[in-house]
Amino acid sequence: MCGIVGYVGSKDASSIVLEGLKKLEYRGYDSAGIATVNGDLAIRRAEGKLVNLENRLREAPLDGHLAIGHTRWATHGAPIERNAHPHADEARVIAVVQNGIVENFMALRAQLQQEGHTFVSDTDTEVITHLIDKYLAQGDGLVEACRRAFRQLHGAHAIAVVSKQEPDKIVTVRLGNAGGVIVGLGQDENYLASDIPAILDHTQQVVYLEDKEMAVITAGQVNFYRLDGQPLRKETHQITWDPISAVKGQYRHFMQKEIYEQPQSIQSTIRGRVDFTSGQVHLEHLSLTPAEAKAIERIVIVACGTSAYAGQVGKFMLEKLAQVHVSVDYASEFRYRDPLLDDKTVVLAITQSGETADTLASMEEGQRKGAKLWSIVNAHGSMAHRISDGVILMQAGPEIGVASTKAFTATLTDLFLLGMYLGQQRGVLGAEESFELATALAHLPELAGETLVEGYNDYQTLAKLYHHCEHFLFLGRGLNYPIALEGALKLKEISYIHAEGYPAGEMKHGPIALIDDNMPVVCIATQDHVYDKMISQIEQVRARKGIVIALINEGDNEVAAKADHVLKIPTAHPLLTPVLSVIPLQLLAYHTAIWRGADVDQPRNLAKSVTVE
Ligand code: AGP
Repeated sequence: MCGIVGYVGSKDASSIVLEGLKKLEYRGYDSAGIATVNGDLAIRRAEGKLVNLENRLREAPLDGHLAIGHTRWATHGAPIERNAHPHADEARVIAVVQNGIVENFMALRAQLQQEGHTFVSDTDTEVITHLIDKYLAQGDGLVEACRRAFRQLHGAHAIAVVSKQEPDKIVTVRLGNAGGVIVGLGQDENYLASDIPAILDHTQQVVYLEDKEMAVITAGQVNFYRLDGQPLRKETHQITWDPISAVKGQYRHFMQKEIYEQPQSIQSTIRGRVDFTSGQVHLEHLSLTPAEAKAIERIVIVACGTSAYAGQVGKFMLEKLAQVHVSVDYASEFRYRDPLLDDKTVVLAITQSGETADTLASMEEGQRKGAKLWSIVNAHGSMAHRISDGVILMQAGPEIGVASTKAFTATLTDLFLLGMYLGQQRGVLGAEESFELATALAHLPELAGETLVEGYNDYQTLAKLYHHCEHFLFLGRGLNYPIALEGALKLKEISYIHAEGYPAGEMKHGPIALIDDNMPVVCIATQDHVYDKMISQIEQVRARKGIVIALINEGDNEVAAKADHVLKIPTAHPLLTPVLSVIPLQLLAYHTAIWRGADVDQPRNLAKSVTVE
């Protein structure tokens, strides 16, 4: 959940690291810090957002050509400067940054205290500093001292270490799934980062560290080792992301930019995967023979948060298009419930970041029990991508806003493509139906674009009228139920309004008690097979004087006449309608949060990549 950046070369290291941290601030913003080695070890840290560290650096700049930095999402210890990374030893020889949790830190801390080490923070990370310090004092060089310290840690970590006694190098390690460690390769300079956007302005050549792998990074070279000291040869990957896609441009917020990018990201998702004359789908990293496709008896989708809601929509798509049983599990539950899996089951992980700890653990559980492992992933090269037997790489580009938007619609599009592909391979979809589905898909980017046209829906009026409400209800049925969940999640994440998504038919079994004339109820009532049922539920809300905000298909005067307000979307293929219906809900949440003065891109307490349990 924290972000790490490192640089060694001939340029001003602290500015490069600071700029890199800005691109990782979505991972945590409780405090930040940078350490440079320039003859001496110097550290600047500041509580709160990165701008505070930036101001501190303006008052007291850091010189030098080697630096590590960190932006924190607090786990152990309050988000105050004393607990900010980097953490130095008592003699201020080494500095350490960590992403992850040292699960055995209490025992290690007690032991180190007994041995005479004095702790100055409440963090688990500080034990790593003291452990390395202990081994340096025993005469080890930095790399060996780090190796001995790393081997004592329980849990999952990404760690970087510098020392003024060996001022030319950064030592880094990945232990388990605490988020990525990416080494960026330059010309007489090298980089280290938790995620690609941090170094994308400087290099597109990267090496990913796997579990229990270390790198020793100097300006001239990078050496890779296993934790036991064995040298390693690692493959270099070329990143295809465009550096421009990781900046805000003319938009006020990343979330806003990412909402408006959806026509383009949906287009990129479809591009090259569909033959529009035959309707045949081709997925580049998932090729199955018809026999293999027919042998699949069950698909178990595992994911968290927004990705899990995408999975719930995916269940409808896959069952309809490929006639295969699908279940959807929250990864945090799945991993602990001893699920029944076998080699005829596919565990399909959905994850934007490819780093979510619960999702990765569920994938491991699937692997252990002999299931096939597929994933839909946005972060190319991430752990989820690398451990999958088959993968659909989202083409959404980097998503920086903490509230996921374009990755959700890209996932829905990918799930539709997967449904078509499996349906074709399993002999469920014939030529005519394939052609119709492909044609429907071809229109999708344009329809998403229409939904986003200025003035198409009046979000300002709604946000102005209802931003003071403390509760919202979102109702939907069928495919629109997960969209109700996602609409509610978006609103609560960025505006801090309590919002609940509910299957509309269940409202009368309890939540109806909440409805009064102060309760906005967003009713997703697109024209599908449960449209009439949804109208009845709107009547039930109206009868209790609830404020009805109906999300309808353009031109639906019947529901419009019953609603206090409408949000409209163009008409699309029923299975693709959720891709459109979520867009007005994203914008409703966005504008409401702006009216409430909330920090849209960095909502309180959240982090983009949830790499801890
Ligand atoms: C979405 O707005 C959230 N911030 C969150 O629910 C997110 O979708 C979840 O943490 C899963 O992340 P992943 O897709 O990167 O695995």
